[in-house]
Amino acid sequence: MPRKLFVTTALPYANGPFHIGHIMEYVQADTWVRFQRMQGHEVHFVCADDAHGAPIMIAAEKAGLTPQQFVAGIAAGRKPTLDGFHIAFDNWHSTDGPENHALARSIYRALRKNDLIDMREVEQFYDPEKGMFLPDRFIKGECPSCGAKDQYGDNCEACGAVYAPTELRNPYSALSGATPVLKTSEHFFFRLSDPRCVEFLEGWTQDGRLQPEVANKVKEWFARDEAGKSRLGDWDISREAPYFGIEIPDAPGKYFYVWLDAPIGYLASLQNWLTKIGVDFDAYLADPAVEQIHFIGKDIVTFHTLFWPATLKFSGRKVPDRVFVHGHLTVSGEKMSKSRGTGISPLRYLELGLNAEWLRYYIAAKLNGRVEDLDFNPEDFVARVNSDLVGKYINIASRAAGFLSKRFAGRLSADLGVEGRVLLDGLRAHADALKGLYEEREFGKALRDVMLLADRVNEYVDRHKPWELAKQPGMDAALHDVCSVCIEAFRLLTLYLKPVMPALAAKVEAFLQIEPLLWADVARALGHHSIGEYQHLMQRVDARQLDALFEAPAAAVAEPLLPGGEALAEEIVIADFAKVDLRIARIVAAERVEGSTKLLRLTLDVGEERLRNVFGGIASAYKPEQLAGKLTVVVANLAPRKMKFGVSEGMVLAASHADEKGHPGLYVLEPWPGAVPGLRVR
Ligand code: 2FM
Ligand code: ZN
Repeated sequence: MPRKLFVTTALPYANGPFHIGHIMEYVQADTWVRFQRMQGHEVHFVCADDAHGAPIMIAAEKAGLTPQQFVAGIAAGRKPTLDGFHIAFDNWHSTDGPENHALARSIYRALRKNDLIDMREVEQFYDPEKGMFLPDRFIKGECPSCGAKDQYGDNCEACGAVYAPTELRNPYSALSGATPVLKTSEHFFFRLSDPRCVEFLEGWTQDGRLQPEVANKVKEWFARDEAGKSRLGDWDISREAPYFGIEIPDAPGKYFYVWLDAPIGYLASLQNWLTKIGVDFDAYLADPAVEQIHFIGKDIVTFHTLFWPATLKFSGRKVPDRVFVHGHLTVSGEKMSKSRGTGISPLRYLELGLNAEWLRYYIAAKLNGRVEDLDFNPEDFVARVNSDLVGKYINIASRAAGFLSKRFAGRLSADLGVEGRVLLDGLRAHADALKGLYEEREFGKALRDVMLLADRVNEYVDRHKPWELAKQPGMDAALHDVCSVCIEAFRLLTLYLKPVMPALAAKVEAFLQIEPLLWADVARALGHHSIGEYQHLMQRVDARQLDALFEAPAAAVAEPLLPGGEALAEEIVIADFAKVDLRIARIVAAERVEGSTKLLRLTLDVGEERLRNVFGGIASAYKPEQLAGKLTVVVANLAPRKMKFGVSEGMVLAASHADEKGHPGLYVLEPWPGAVPGLRVR
């Protein structure tokens, strides 16, 4: 019976582009999903932007946009990265979509009906200037423990102390600088301490559905004190206006805390997707055969193993079947950090022309089913891709394909010889073990296994030396058999690798002229089959390509001084230059201009009260989604110019050759990290 799987990854906050940690999680989940589909199982694999919360509201305000516009801008930039890394979500939605509003409200009503919602007074810091309650992250002050200045409201970066924001000395609002005042308001609480919840969660978390280390960690919440009470406290699920979120029924001005509606977004995206494909959402979730599975990182375990299952259970809904937790990604042993130049931008990776499947392979090769951190190490990356992936696996096809097409018109022999058959049977015998490893997310082990099989095939080739057989008269049949064995072996290895490298597998399928490989095709053989012309399937990595990846994104690549084809302009004095007011601008939005192939319309934040509209002749070099969110330099005191498509209020700086036809490149300027909109360039 095919399984019915509903699979999600964590919903990323809609406050910035993907970072490499997102891609790691998506590669893990996508590989698992592809494996399940190869088994013939039915999978609905969905994600969404996590749109709500104070930080996004504040970021939007800074950008001069409504939260909806801000979130839409981020969402619009998602596709190139997802497609580029072959992450095949069926659906991408938003927690601000109508489905989520309706689901969150209905779930809340059910919890209330179940007598699990309480109202209590909460005293919190309030910014009197901004007129809003301050989330911990937006309160700063001196650490109560070591006195370090400018520490956040929840913990000190200098000494590591953890405290409540009310303990900070000389607190101030990070939004306005004002001294916050304590103010009470009524909050709604989900009564997780209710014995029904405790009992349910103790069972749900300890019945074997969680990874052992996760179950153990979560167990601490159920330790009881002398009175027999667990540590599981009630959960504050409401926030006061102004807040970007979902308004709570019957409580005007109060909103669900973002973490209440975020996981409900899993269901909202599923509902949105099922509606698109004409499947009844309620009926689907009522099917006991459906398995609900969430891939998440270790930092959000409590939300997914306590709050989320309880929310579902006590609103009368299906609870998650599995929560697959992974560790974090480090770079050369350290936590990723943009300022230290160890941040890897996934989009930059693609833009540099690095092969997405190198990274998929590398990530998968280091993943397992436990909650361990995963280190990205450039040397290791180069070694694994070049010696394993290309050197061992790709090599098999390139060693055999040439002879087959030149000498046998691409037709395979079906008589593979005893040794060949034994080799292939040996490869097939690993199918079940590999299946088990993929199922358990032991991708590293699976890939190690596949590479050992590739070693066996290469040893077979070395023993039979097709390059020598090709020179010996009368050895045609032997050459034909050996090369045919190689191609059959290559087909099997490709099948085993396909969940990790789907685009490469598609190329191989085209080369072998076969239908898309399914797991059951292990048992088949190509027989007297004709294959196509071999085209190079995968390049090796050049270590220098990775250097460019790690460069701080804004540090311009030092191109050799090219004869740009332009003579130096007439000399000026400093006063001449001072007339040009250059400012740092943030590209808040970029869009194509209908009727023009050259122009992009840019919405710029130059640190003023308003946003500017500027047209730039850069459409040939940049897609709008590459630009949104970036900083650049603008001539801010240029007289507004009326153009065919509207008024342009400035000019964005870009480098180019004088001869644009011969040298079509165009490079928009970007300041080094730390610059902010409005700063003058001098
Ligand atoms: O930690 C985060 O990035 C959250 N946006 C994850 C939310 S997962 C789900 F609950 F929506
Ligand atoms: Zn401190």
